[in-house]
Amino acid sequence: MPFPIQRLRRLRQNPAIRDIFRETVLRIDDLIYPLFVVPGTNVREELTSLPGNYHLSVDQLPREIAEITALGIQSVLLFGLPEWKDEIGSSAFQADGTVQRAIQTIKTYRPDLLVIADLCLCQYTSHGHCGVLKGCLIDNDVTLKILQQVALSYAKAGVDIIAPSDMMDGRVGAMRSILDANGFENLPILSYAAKYASAFYGPFREAADSAPQFGDRSTYQMDPANSDEAMREIASDIEEGADMIIIKPALSYLDILQRARQQFNIPAVAYNVSGEYAMVKAAAARGWVDGKRISLEILRSIKRAGASAIITYHAKEAAVWLREEG
Ligand code: PBG
Ligand code: ZN
Repeated sequence: MPFPIQRLRRLRQNPAIRDIFRETVLRIDDLIYPLFVVPGTNVREELTSLPGNYHLSVDQLPREIAEITALGIQSVLLFGLPEWKDEIGSSAFQADGTVQRAIQTIKTYRPDLLVIADLCLCQYTSHGHCGVLKGCLIDNDVTLKILQQVALSYAKAGVDIIAPSDMMDGRVGAMRSILDANGFENLPILSYAAKYASAFYGPFREAADSAPQFGDRSTYQMDPANSDEAMREIASDIEEGADMIIIKPALSYLDILQRARQQFNIPAVAYNVSGEYAMVKAAAARGWVDGKRISLEILRSIKRAGASAIITYHAKEAAVWLREEG
């Protein structure tokens, strides 16, 4: 019985040898931190469903941004909660809306911080759906007109990247054309190309007050059973002018992320969503898992599957941990 010639343990025998041959390196600048901006002043309220994350009024943003940038995080994803809602989500495109004021404030305070704004209507519509209703269904093309107005208002406010998450057909092309027609041809679009109708969004909907008041989102978001369809969504968004794509959620969809990276030559961002975060926090609070180790393992697995960047509620704590590790 010969002893093994090939011994993979040789490259695992000490930290130095493991470090130098590590295949995937998670870096602080891979992380994009979501922010929930609310009306009013002096609001800094921890979210019960997303511990460690906050509802922040615009006046609180400079303090938050100072903290984020000191940690080395270079990018944020903005979500806004409006002062009022209506049937068509018109509070989403007001020049003095929550997100628009947040963009202006952050870009004035820290022009170097990359500001991405999520673009959808569900926080702004009275019924909580991501588009304009016709009966019980969403009217795709009427919704596109509203989305164009929102895109233009974000562009005028000075956003760096817009991230449409509505899942209407043709939205990327519609946004690209209104942006180009108004002199914003250099504003990139990060499209939520493969966004699944997922139960992992629960804590977010509570934080963003954006749950649908009837039915669900399965007439516009994707069926979790489908993979080929995700490739078609990505292909059509690229054709319409998307600069980067998002796969969402991340953990149950790493196969989609890996397949997208193999098939398309475009940056792909993974969204480590609210339910994924909440499960980790809940288990860690009970002492059932090691919160730090499990979070970093999750983020590394997303990077290993091919993510160019990761949107995550763990961003601030992960930045601290990565710095400690050196
Ligand atoms: C909707 C939107 C959702 C998230 C961000 N924008 C999901 C939804 O309600 O369908 C989810 C993010 C998360 O769960 O962290 N446009
Ligand atoms: Zn939406």
